[in-house]
Amino acid sequence: MGEYKIAVIQGDGIGPEVTQEAINILKAVGKKYQHHFTFEYALAGGCAIDSYGQCLPKETLAICKGADSVMLGAVGGPKWDNVPNAQRPEKALLGLRSQLGLFSNLRPAKIYDALADACPLKAEIVAGGLDILIVRELTGGIYFGERGYRKGNYGVEAYDVETYSEVEIQRILKNAFTVAMQREKKVCCVDKANVLETSRLWRKVAEEMKASYPQVTLSYMYVDNAAMQLVRNPKQFDVIVTSNMFGDILSDEASMITGSIGLLPSASLGKGTFGMYEPIHGSAPDIAGQNKANPIAAILSAGMMLKYSFHLEKEAEDIENAVKAVLEEGMRTPDIFSEGATLLGTKEMGQAVLSHI
Ligand code: IPM
Ligand code: MG
Repeated sequence: MGEYKIAVIQGDGIGPEVTQEAINILKAVGKKYQHHFTFEYALAGGCAIDSYGQCLPKETLAICKGADSVMLGAVGGPKWDNVPNAQRPEKALLGLRSQLGLFSNLRPAKIYDALADACPLKAEIVAGGLDILIVRELTGGIYFGERGYRKGNYGVEAYDVETYSEVEIQRILKNAFTVAMQREKKVCCVDKANVLETSRLWRKVAEEMKASYPQVTLSYMYVDNAAMQLVRNPKQFDVIVTSNMFGDILSDEASMITGSIGLLPSASLGKGTFGMYEPIHGSAPDIAGQNKANPIAAILSAGMMLKYSFHLEKEAEDIENAVKAVLEEGMRTPDIFSEGATLLGTKEMGQAVLSHI
């Protein structure tokens, strides 16, 4: 029996449709296990630009800070492609992450048995399934470093600086080691230590910390090699921990390996249990409002919220099992549809998952 206050940022494009289905599922889980979830809506992204003239209004931040966790749909769309850089809808994401202190981004890439065919790699490469967790540092590095223009030897030049402090590295590595303990107990630290000073500091900190996690096997890999290994032999990975930019890139690659980006959730966590949960797919403006979007990534994100923010393991498992069951029954939204399956819309897919809770 628990009380949980959830801030909901539906955002743009398909965001409102998919979050609605996730909310329905949470309500059903609440009913089953006698938890009380309340939802408070806030605007961010393009819709906030339209209503407030800015992508991340202070009202939204206040609602998020007053909640136990945040559920986010997706932000952005062609309508706002021409707004100035500092106010682009995507800036709302970066702002939420830094203002809410969400330095740790968990991005699982998992192949569901029922969807093994969707994987673009040869069957033998992923035989027996795939389950990788990318732990991406989310509030530091080059995405938040000093940037600008200056006069150089060849005229005007632009620069973006990558900086990492020991504290920033320690806290993200701690999270990676900790989640690895609940998995295969393998952590691969991905970097560019043959070139970058920041990477060498990551390795130094990792070496200092590894004694505290004797059950975890720690390895290192250069990011260029990791990009290759992800398609050559992805099953070698359990937890990958890496910087903001490398994690951004590798998590897209890993998600593509599953062949079903519409299925992948993510969690952004800070110091305590507070987190922000969102599907990794974007706002898909081309299919917005047409009942075509896959709500499963949003639904699984709600599952991650139960697990990581509220520590409701059994409830989270219920959601995962419901999704698995629906996929095994051959239910498919257009993005994962194949011959012989049952084609469902967003709402119908949400209902199908709900029927298994
Ligand atoms: C992501 C996205 C964002 C990022 C963009 C939209 C700023 O690509 O969440 O991976 O780079 O972090
Ligand atoms: Mg990205």
